[in-house]
Amino acid sequence: MTDTIEVDSISKYFGQVTALDGVSATITGGEVTCVLGDNGAGKSTLIKILSGVFRPDEGVVRLNGERMKFSSPRDALARGIATVYQDLAMIPLMSVWRNFFLGNEPVRGLVPVRNLSVDWAKRTVVDEMAKMGITIRDPEQRVGTLSGGERQSLAIARAVYFGARVLILDEPTAALGVKQAGIVLRYIVMAKKRGLAVLFITHNPNHAYPVGDHFVILRRGRAEGDFRKEELPLDSLMQMMAGGEDLRDLVEELERIAAETGEAELAETAHGIVAEVEDLRGIGRGDQR
Ligand SMILES: Nc1ncnc2c1ncn2[C@@H]1O[C@H](COP(=O)(O)OP(=O)(O)OP(=O)(O)O)[C@@H](O)[C@H]1O
Ligand SMILES: [Mg+2]
Repeated sequence: MTDTIEVDSISKYFGQVTALDGVSATITGGEVTCVLGDNGAGKSTLIKILSGVFRPDEGVVRLNGERMKFSSPRDALARGIATVYQDLAMIPLMSVWRNFFLGNEPVRGLVPVRNLSVDWAKRTVVDEMAKMGITIRDPEQRVGTLSGGERQSLAIARAVYFGARVLILDEPTAALGVKQAGIVLRYIVMAKKRGLAVLFITHNPNHAYPVGDHFVILRRGRAEGDFRKEELPLDSLMQMMAGGEDLRDLVEELERIAAETGEAELAETAHGIVAEVEDLRGIGRGDQR
C-alpha cells in the first residue's frame, strides 16, 4: 500500500513572520514531490510540520485520510515518516555500521545482542548499500571519512531499511558537487521505485527536475502552484532550466553510473532524463528562434 499525505491550507506564524500562508500539496507514494523555493520561502517550516517538530497554526495535514496530530518527531517516525536533515544526526567518529543501527541496535529474539549479531549488522549495512550501488569497503570505516553523497545515501538507506514509507529530505544535495549529487539523486529514484513517498526539498531546479514527478514552488510562505512535470508551463520550465549546463553534467553522470553498475532500471531512468532534456532543449530553441 502506498501512502498519501494531504497538506491542506497550512499556515504557520512566528510572531510577526508568516512562514507559511495557506499552503496545500499532496504527497503520494511512488512519486517524488519536489518543494522548491528561495531562502526563507518556508521549505524547512513545512518539513518540520510534516515531521512533527511544529504544529500548524491553521490548516490540517492528513495521512491516508486521517488527521495527523504528531507531538514529536518520534511520533512521526512511528508512523513511517522519516526525515533526513542536512546535519543527518550521524556521529562522524563512529563507524558506518554503528551509525546505521544507531537507536535500532540489532536484537535476537527481542534481546539486544552484543557480539553475536555484529557480523550480521556489518553484513547488512554492506548489503543495503550495495543494493543502491554504493560499495562500502569496510563497515568499520568512520562516517566522517565518507564523501558527502555517501553520507547522505547512508542516512537515506537507514531510513528505508527501518521501514520509512514517507521520506523527507531537506536539501540533501545542497553542499554536493555534480558527481555526489548524482549518487543522492539515484537513491531518490530508487526509493520512489520501492513505493516510498519522497519529499525532496531543494533550491536547485537542476537537481529537482530530473527526478521530480511534481513541483511545489514556495515563495514567501505561499505555494505558487503544484505543477506536474508534464504540465509545467513552458516559461516556468525555462526559468527552472536556467543554467542547463549543470543538468547536462548531471545526466552524463547518471548515465555513467548506469553503465558502470549495469543496472537496467537506472540506465532507463538516465536515458529517460536525456530524452526529456533533449526535448526541452528543442522546445527552448524553437521558442527563441
Ligand atoms: N523558529 C523560528 N522562529 C522565528 N522565525 C522563524 C523560525 N523558523 C523559521 N522562521 C522564519 O520563517 C520563514 C521561513 O523559514 P524557513 O526556514 O522555513 O525557510 P526555508 O525555505 O527553509 O529557507 P532556507 O532555504 O534558507 O533553508 C523565514 O522568514 C524564517 O526567518
Ligand atoms: Mg531551510
